[in-house]
Amino acid sequence: MRKVIAGNPVTGADLIGREEEIQRITHYLDMGQHIVLSAPRRFGKTSIMLEILSRKRKENFYTSFIDVFSSPTIEILAENITQAVLENNQLGKVFNKTRHSAIKMFQNTKLKAVIENFEFLLEFSSSQKNPYELLAHSLNFIDGFTSKHNRHMVSGFDEFGDILKLDGKEVVKLFRSKIQLHKNASYIFAGSHESLMNVLFAEKNAPFYRFAKIIEPGYIDKNKFAEYYKKILTRYKIPFDKDLVLTLLDFTRGHPYYSQLALQQLIVYNRINNRMPAYAEIIEWMLNDEKNYIEKTWEELASSKENIRTVIAIVKYGKNIYSVLKKEHINVARALKRLKEKGFIFIKEDKSYELSDPLLEHWIWKNVIRI
Ligand SMILES: Nc1ncnc2c1ncn2[C@@H]1O[C@H](COP(=O)(O)OP(=O)(O)OP(=O)(O)O)[C@@H](O)[C@H]1O
Ligand SMILES: [Mg+2]
Repeated sequence: MRKVIAGNPVTGADLIGREEEIQRITHYLDMGQHIVLSAPRRFGKTSIMLEILSRKRKENFYTSFIDVFSSPTIEILAENITQAVLENNQLGKVFNKTRHSAIKMFQNTKLKAVIENFEFLLEFSSSQKNPYELLAHSLNFIDGFTSKHNRHMVSGFDEFGDILKLDGKEVVKLFRSKIQLHKNASYIFAGSHESLMNVLFAEKNAPFYRFAKIIEPGYIDKNKFAEYYKKILTRYKIPFDKDLVLTLLDFTRGHPYYSQLALQQLIVYNRINNRMPAYAEIIEWMLNDEKNYIEKTWEELASSKENIRTVIAIVKYGKNIYSVLKKEHINVARALKRLKEKGFIFIKEDKSYELSDPLLEHWIWKNVIRI
């Protein structure tokens, strides 16, 4: 049965409508230009990154994927980087298993051969290791190992904003100072808008900002999603109700996660009730499914009166919110800046505003504005 994924990253045939972003990023990477991939939560950053890495692997590039979120210490980050690099020669698992003991590492002849060129690998087994140095070596290993094998590497760091949790600015500086000398590797750094901005401007005069090109993927073309719905529904032997599908996609605006979720709910509803749902039923199901997430997001967003008033005005009017909010004695410019930085709102081409989360917007209509 065909997978419909709402949650984990998607690649290959399940990745809809990101061709343009992928092509653009790939061209930049080929030129040695590093990329920062920034978007609100659940906009498909990890999916785009994994797809690019997978395509590059098919072109015989080396690749490495490192999730900074699951690297809670500098030492573990160094380990994860080294393991991801070694994965290109199928040595990642061996390294992971043996890294606590130099003797064990040497027992594997292939790993031993690598250690002959990259002695720092042994330091992972030392009782007095210096995490900072290990990280510096691991970063250089990305380029060094790749160069040794006459290849190029595309290296992806996901949730890169979390790097600041490790040792603040020092680690950011280390990354830049090492990576800028690498000749055989291009880098993609992905994360939420807010966390990445903090990294980009962590250093004085923002050198990291100048160092990487920022790409911000938005909503996905609704027509592409409609085609995908048709394909999937046909496979599930569920009639393709074009009007319903287009109405649902108008609601999700082509938000990647919610568009998948709506499709998933449509299928499950059919399976359970043996009939097509009404539009409102699907929205209700989605709200139920996402209740905890939405409430948590609202809590975060509603941290100040300024934010609340501004968001309500955006939801209600979208445009001309300054004149609407004039009487309220709040600093609208400050609230807008903060909401934008946190990825809660988008500024549209016609200079109007909208929430980046359509389901949250609906929830606000229902629960806050109460219409
Ligand atoms: N291009 C796409 N085509 C179809 N579905 C997508 C696409 N991109 C994302 N999705 C949907 O969104 C979900 C989240 O994708 P992904 O994990 O890549 O986003 P993210 O931006 O990395 O999220 P997070 O902020 O939680 O890390 C996927 O499970 C999938 O349902
Ligand atoms: Mg992600």
